Amino acid sequence: MRILVTGGAGYIGSHTCILLLEAGYDIVVFDNFCNASKESISRVEKIMGKTIPLMEGDIRNKEDLNRVFERYTIDAVIHFAGLKAVGESVEKPLEYYDNNIYGTLVLCQVMAAHGCKSIVFSSSATVYGDPHTTPIREDFPLSATNPYGRSKLFIEEMLRDLYVSDKTWKIVLLRYFNPIGAHESGTIGEDPNGIPNNLLPFIAQTAIGTRACLSVFGDDYNTVDGTGVRDYIHVMDLADGHVKALDKMNTFSEVMTINLGTGKGYSVLEVLKAFEAASGKKVPYTIAPRRAGDIAECFADPAYAKAVLGWEAQRGIDEMCKDSWRWQSNNPNGYKESNS
Ligand code: NAD
Ligand code: UFG
Repeated sequence: MRILVTGGAGYIGSHTCILLLEAGYDIVVFDNFCNASKESISRVEKIMGKTIPLMEGDIRNKEDLNRVFERYTIDAVIHFAGLKAVGESVEKPLEYYDNNIYGTLVLCQVMAAHGCKSIVFSSSATVYGDPHTTPIREDFPLSATNPYGRSKLFIEEMLRDLYVSDKTWKIVLLRYFNPIGAHESGTIGEDPNGIPNNLLPFIAQTAIGTRACLSVFGDDYNTVDGTGVRDYIHVMDLADGHVKALDKMNTFSEVMTINLGTGKGYSVLEVLKAFEAASGKKVPYTIAPRRAGDIAECFADPAYAKAVLGWEAQRGIDEMCKDSWRWQSNNPNGYKESNS
């Protein structure tokens, strides 16, 4: 079976490529490199000892996608391609709606035209908005507070409508919680552009000395120590969830919506402590005001993923921090050094 991995050069996509190949799937990576480097795929090739078909193109461009489907027989698509920065989406909503929503629309049209009707979509826990209680189950109310979140919500609805119109589609909506960590080799990992928005890359860059000090956004939430609580999940566990979803797809035809989280929440200060222990580095921090749009607490009820996919996260916070640190300390400038 050949899987088209859109956005396969990105953070989660590159890690998922490894497990797809290990599971015996053939793949083709499709990416426009707006937020990734070809180096990530070269490194996956090194890890796996094989060449990975890579096609450069944009999901909004039918011709680009047609070239892929004409060259390869694609059995299913894992659709990672998209823009993902919450703050940027508030400043540039049209770019987010164009890239994420229109891009997915074009992708589905091209898939249908080529008779490929199986898709795994990267959704997000952001679709739960500010949940009334935790842990969060898949049937909780949905809402969005920014254009990024709205793009994910709308794509979920679009894919559900598609299934209603044609029951031969197989659709899995995977709602990720907070992916962190890196492949154990320390050769691929998260490589954000500019100043990181997310906690782990910021901590890792502070530990290595690229940033002076972490701002902890708020210590007056109603949580264990007043700082925000999230469900951090190792990117390799997340990748494994995609392989399990594909395996499951061979046996059903419907829309499935599944949380991928560990079920355990950690506060900012708890993560900081775990990272310091894993890296042996002191990470200076200061308490800053709350970040607009943040919620106090967000963690998954992962029971459905276990029941339906036989999947559950295997790696704990210490391993996540160790692997993040190995990647960061081996590659202080991410993929950039080897590109120059
Ligand atoms: P990423 O930016 O590392 O990867 C996305 C990839 O898609 C990049 O390689 C980028 O170059 C590519 N891309 C973007 N627009 C494209 C287009 N129009 N055509 C072709 N390629 C395009 O991000 P990631 O962290 O790997 O996230 C993957 C997916 O998971 C995204 O859809 C994201 O919204 C979703 N997600 C991520 C997180 C997270 O915290 N990382 C959480 C929930 C959901
Ligand atoms: N935080 C800090 N300082 C920082 C960065 C983050 O204190 O410099 C705190 C935040 O306030 C929050 C926690 O660390 O309490 C996690 O923040 P992240 O930005 O790492 O992650 P979010 O939970 O805000 O959002 C992430 C992705 C979203 C996605 C969501 C759920 O950025 O796109 O996880 O999957 F929707």
